[in-house]
Amino acid sequence: MCGIVGYVGNDNSLDVLLGGLKRLEYRGYDSAGVAVLDPHGTLHTRKRAGKLKVLVDDLATTPIASGSTGIGHTRWATHGGPTDGNAHPHLGDGGRLALIHNGIIENYAPLKQELLDAGDTFESETDTEVAALLVGRAYRETGDLTEALRHVAGRLEGAFTLLAVHADQPGVVVGARRNSPLVIGLGDGENFLGSDVAAFVEFTRRAVAIGQDQLVTIRPDSVEVIDFAGNPVETSEFEVAWDASASEKGGWSSFMAKEISEEPEAVANTLLGRTEDGVVVLPELEPLGDALLRDIDRIIVIACGTAAYAGMLGKYAIESWARIPVDVELSHEFRYRDPVLSDRTLVVSVSQSGETMDTLMAVQYARQQGAKVLSICNTQGSSIPRESDAVVYTHAGPEVAVASTKAFVAQVTALYLLGLHLALVRGTQDRARLQKLTGELHDVPAKLSKVLEASAGIPQLARWMTDTQSVLFLGRHVGYPVALEGALKLKELAYIHSEGFAAGELKHGPIALIEPGQIVFVIVPSPRDPKSLHPKVISNIQEIKARGARVVAIAEQGDVDAIQHADEVIPIPLASPLFEPLLAVVPLHVFGMELASAKGLDVDQPRNLAKSVTVE
Ligand code: M6R
Repeated sequence: MCGIVGYVGNDNSLDVLLGGLKRLEYRGYDSAGVAVLDPHGTLHTRKRAGKLKVLVDDLATTPIASGSTGIGHTRWATHGGPTDGNAHPHLGDGGRLALIHNGIIENYAPLKQELLDAGDTFESETDTEVAALLVGRAYRETGDLTEALRHVAGRLEGAFTLLAVHADQPGVVVGARRNSPLVIGLGDGENFLGSDVAAFVEFTRRAVAIGQDQLVTIRPDSVEVIDFAGNPVETSEFEVAWDASASEKGGWSSFMAKEISEEPEAVANTLLGRTEDGVVVLPELEPLGDALLRDIDRIIVIACGTAAYAGMLGKYAIESWARIPVDVELSHEFRYRDPVLSDRTLVVSVSQSGETMDTLMAVQYARQQGAKVLSICNTQGSSIPRESDAVVYTHAGPEVAVASTKAFVAQVTALYLLGLHLALVRGTQDRARLQKLTGELHDVPAKLSKVLEASAGIPQLARWMTDTQSVLFLGRHVGYPVALEGALKLKELAYIHSEGFAAGELKHGPIALIEPGQIVFVIVPSPRDPKSLHPKVISNIQEIKARGARVVAIAEQGDVDAIQHADEVIPIPLASPLFEPLLAVVPLHVFGMELASAKGLDVDQPRNLAKSVTVE
């Protein structure tokens, strides 16, 4: 979950490091630190608990020497609380080596004992310091930083990205990775390392992703990648699809406000270039082969959090259009329960970051069991696509706010594209119907813009609810995942206890929670569909109103029943049932953000969370 940046070149590395950390702060923000090597080979470090700003202010008050080699870290605490002492970098070789780490070293306890027995002392409670001291010792034996890190990386278990610099080797930064991301940025007379491309996109869009169990050594004019056995590795370069401005606030009050405003564009960009003659084409699926797409008898979607709710919506669409049974599993449950997989199972992973450890592990497990894996991912150069048989990228652009918004609608869009493509390949829908459905999907961005315009009253609604202790969300069919997503946003942003329920489940227990004043959001399906669950959901509204609840309905514009029975109605444009959730979710994103803002909370960096959950 931590953010990592490394730099060698001619520039003042401190500026590059702090700029990179600013862009990576969404990965973890409980402490930050840097290590810089000056031209005389002296190592300067500074680290502070708190947000990056604390470190930046500290460095402004008491500067450290400049240099052209350095590493920087922004932390999400795992081992040891967020204190100055536990912040990275950690030191080895008598203070001549600095090391930063993302991940968890699972066998740190026996390694620590080994170091204690050998006479080392520890300054922190972290697992990282074990690695720093070990690499320091290995350096004393080998006299080479790459060799020292290679020696130690092979002994570590768990997940790690490590970067190290040594006072004896100015102009060199060495990195290693296992189950945790690391990307190289290729510059001209300078090179970069980062947890993701955001670390260096301000300086270069040429990037190389480093594979599993590999090490990289960067110098101003060279980049070398080897595996943990010491063999050279061939790499391939890619171009980052967005520029630095895409990962900046651009005048918005928060990244989240900006990213919600980008929801229409996220859908439009994900659709771009994926339609021919009115039907969906996904050349990205070629590595799977049409034979497999015709033969698969089951799809399992694996994902966590918001991405799993997108997966639930994908289930409704794929089953309806392509007539393939779809299960949706939380990645962290999937691989621990002996799932039944075969060579006719397609596993679809969904992840914005492409780094969620639980999902990465589930992908690896599925492939070991013989299933093919398709990834739906938003982040180029990330680990999950590299470990998959095929990848469909969502083109939502960088998502910086910890709470996922535009990535969600892009994920749903990509899953719908998959459903439509499968329906075409398997012949489960005729061409005219596929063209109609594809056309409706293309209408979504414009409708989303209308939803955003119609959400202007939500800030006032949110201000009225700042003292609310609990909010319930109800939905049926595709409204159910939307209810779950609305509840998750409120938990993580506004720290309010909130639950999403399938409205049909109400009478089986949750209705006991309804007492006078309880706020309930209800996602109301369109009344126009003859098979609609609209009358049943309106009955649910009446049942909870009768017990004193205050109801906010997200309903199709002109829904007279919703207007009659709910206390507030947030209107959404007309759409057929499977497309409604893409519209209904946006007011809930806005509501979560506005309520958190009204409570004076940081909507981009909620407490205890990090953007990419790269630990299990
Ligand atoms: O990067 P991923 O899509 O794999 O992340 C999955 C979840 O961690 C993520 O959606 C999380 O639930 C968000 N904070 C929700 O807003």
